[in-house]
Amino acid sequence: MPPLILDLIYILSAVLFVLGLKRLGSPATARKGNGMAAAAMLLAVVATLLDRSIVSWEVIAGGLVTGAIIGTVLARTVKMTAMPQLVGVFNGFGGGASALVAAAEVLRETGPLTVPLPAGISAAIGILIGGVTFSGSFIAFGKLQGFVTGRPVTYPLQRTGNFLLFVALLSAAGVLVTGGYDPVVLAILAGLALLLGILLVLPIGGADMPVVISLLNSYSGLAASAAGFVLGNPLLVLAGALVGAAGLILTRLMCRAMNRSLANVAFGAFGGGDGPAAGSDEERPVRRTTPEEGAMLLAYASSVVIVPGYGLAVAQAQHEVKKLTDLLMKRGVKVKFAIHPVAGRMPGHMNVLLAESDVPYDLLADLDEINPEFPRTDVALVVGANDVINPLARDPSSPIAGMPILDVDKARNVIVIKRSLSPGFAGIDNPIFYEDRTLMLFADAREAMAELAREVKEI
Ligand code: TAP
Repeated sequence: MPPLILDLIYILSAVLFVLGLKRLGSPATARKGNGMAAAAMLLAVVATLLDRSIVSWEVIAGGLVTGAIIGTVLARTVKMTAMPQLVGVFNGFGGGASALVAAAEVLRETGPLTVPLPAGISAAIGILIGGVTFSGSFIAFGKLQGFVTGRPVTYPLQRTGNFLLFVALLSAAGVLVTGGYDPVVLAILAGLALLLGILLVLPIGGADMPVVISLLNSYSGLAASAAGFVLGNPLLVLAGALVGAAGLILTRLMCRAMNRSLANVAFGAFGGGDGPAAGSDEERPVRRTTPEEGAMLLAYASSVVIVPGYGLAVAQAQHEVKKLTDLLMKRGVKVKFAIHPVAGRMPGHMNVLLAESDVPYDLLADLDEINPEFPRTDVALVVGANDVINPLARDPSSPIAGMPILDVDKARNVIVIKRSLSPGFAGIDNPIFYEDRTLMLFADAREAMAELAREVKEI
């Protein structure tokens, strides 16, 4: 392929990657953005394979069809709640592929003098980060899928051990680059990187895995960039850098929305698997309500803010929520959805679920937009949310101190749908449940929403 054509295709792909990424910023344009980035990747892969005469048309077509079938089956069958695991697996394969490419490139050469030093260093970095990403991602997958314990695995001298392992890795990388790319040293480097990936992810609690997966996503981008340097392919360097930066930004956003540092996520051994940790107070009195009473309150309200949380995802109540929303709006009730950035267990969890049931995007309001509206709201309907509405976050001595919350306690009436008084992910009690203005509807979110809809219909 003439170099000018290849350069033009690469520039077009790069522009499509950036525009696609930009469109992923809003649910309304995300699907188009995803399509643009996928088209850019297809263009880049086909152009590269042809340019380097790597494979024939038949092999390219075979690879395309196989990949498309696997992708379609996964996209259609994997449940929305299992998305973090799937992304984890993708990251793992991405990191592993980059490590293999980097290793193959240096092994192809015959001696130290034939591999330029920058390419050699890039290869060592690619193997190191790619190896950590591969094994770390599969441990993250195992934790979310239940193959590996969701509880943080901690043992004495853990951080010291990991630090020493990291030093050993750097030494092996140094020996590899300066010592003639010995396959044995390369195998040791890869083995140590895989071990470090496992040991870094094991001490992190299962519920923190979405943050870890986002961080590993960033690592997989860095590994791809390193492989791009080894191959001398500018588009791979750029695509890897975009993934690296996007993953890091998302990781930071998630940490900020939980008011926790990345170090606290990585080393804090916070949260266990699923299920309550401690701290519920079954003895304190609460005001219980029934679907009949709840429906009356909702049907005669002029404004309702629905606050979805992790429980909505567990119960898969999004379709019932949509039905109730339609019924209320038909009666002239103003309905909005308050979306907390870390409600649920993965970024955009609530947006995705509500989009699945066709809740219009313009009903969704983020934290800054909705908080000033709570004092004017007749009913805040909390569906399986807990930590994201916990006023204890305003108390400097609480474990979630400083976490931005939805000011549900400022609404005129609050209905909370959950099954018990169990705490949420943070494992702490929520004083909102015991307030006079709060009515507790103890039920599975899906059943409760269906009953509320039935009752509203009859009013
Ligand atoms: P949580 O605080 O975890 O509370 C969820 C509540 O849902 C629980 O109290 C539970 O109470 C209830 N629930 C569970 N299953 C239910 C069902 N079938 N029907 C009705 N209720 C049900 O959820 P949240 O308010 O969404 O907060 C999210 C938490 O996860 C935050 O602490 C956040 O920091 C953390 N986190 C989020 C992310 C991302 S990226 N979203 C990543 C890591 C950690 P019962 O058991 O009594 O029903």
